[in-house]
Amino acid sequence: MLELKHIEKSFHGKTILNDININIEKGHIVSILGPSGSGKTTLLNMLLGIEPIDKGQLIYEGVDYTNVPMEQRGFNIVFQDYALFPNLNVYKNIVYGLRNYPNISTKEEIEELIDLLGLRDHLKKSIYQLSGGEKQRVALARTLVMKPKLLLLDEPLSALDGVIKESIKEKIKEIVKEFKLTTIIVTHDPEEALTLSDKVLIINNGHIAQYGTSAEIVKEPANDFVKQFILNQLEIKRNNILNLFTNVE
Ligand SMILES: Nc1ncnc2c1ncn2[C@@H]1O[C@H](COP(=O)(O)OP(=O)(O)OP(=O)(O)O)[C@@H](O)[C@H]1O
Ligand SMILES: [Mg+2]
Repeated sequence: MLELKHIEKSFHGKTILNDININIEKGHIVSILGPSGSGKTTLLNMLLGIEPIDKGQLIYEGVDYTNVPMEQRGFNIVFQDYALFPNLNVYKNIVYGLRNYPNISTKEEIEELIDLLGLRDHLKKSIYQLSGGEKQRVALARTLVMKPKLLLLDEPLSALDGVIKESIKEKIKEIVKEFKLTTIIVTHDPEEALTLSDKVLIINNGHIAQYGTSAEIVKEPANDFVKQFILNQLEIKRNNILNLFTNVE
């Protein structure tokens, strides 16, 4: 279990996150939803260990990780901007993290992941020859081969289109469940959050607006913000689709 206990974070005297207090079961997928600038990436960065936690505690399986350096946490992230190595080809990017830990994934597991993520035809390409969605899949593969104790994903599906998004979503779920990886996914898309995760964390103005299962959030939104946020986001999505048709005419 991962326990976030009353975590707080400020930048230049301005509170970004306040009293973030949740538990995440081992092997569960938790999605974080919230408006732009609400502190989602900052929270992932604190869990990863690249951003110090101002107040509160991070407990992983009973051990206090609050001040454990990043390299010793064994957590891993797919960044919002992928952060791939431009000087290495696709395959070398995928296996880069294994150079010091060659036993984490077997050759068969690496090959399986390459096929699952549809990267077989791209292995020899340079990063600059890839589309946004392909880069996103390389970033996912590179992180998944490391089987992190805690898998952090910052908008991992944003550059993917409908059909491939659905299939990658299913694959993430499959891999995460197979390896029992505790996973936290930041997303803007409530549909993605509600269909992918065991629990959803909604943050607003630095506070937890609601933390619950998809069913709880849909059936019993804790407050007007949650209700409006979910409805608005779905409405934006619906309008985007309708606009597509208007533009075609
Ligand atoms: N290193 C930093 N120094 C100062 N302010 C920062 C720093 N990192 C983030 N912030 C501020 O903290 C707030 C939260 O940023 P964060 O990137 O966590 O938001 P987010 O929820 O991930 O937004 P988005 O959905 O747009 O990715 C923003 O107002 C941002 O400007
Ligand atoms: Mg962000």
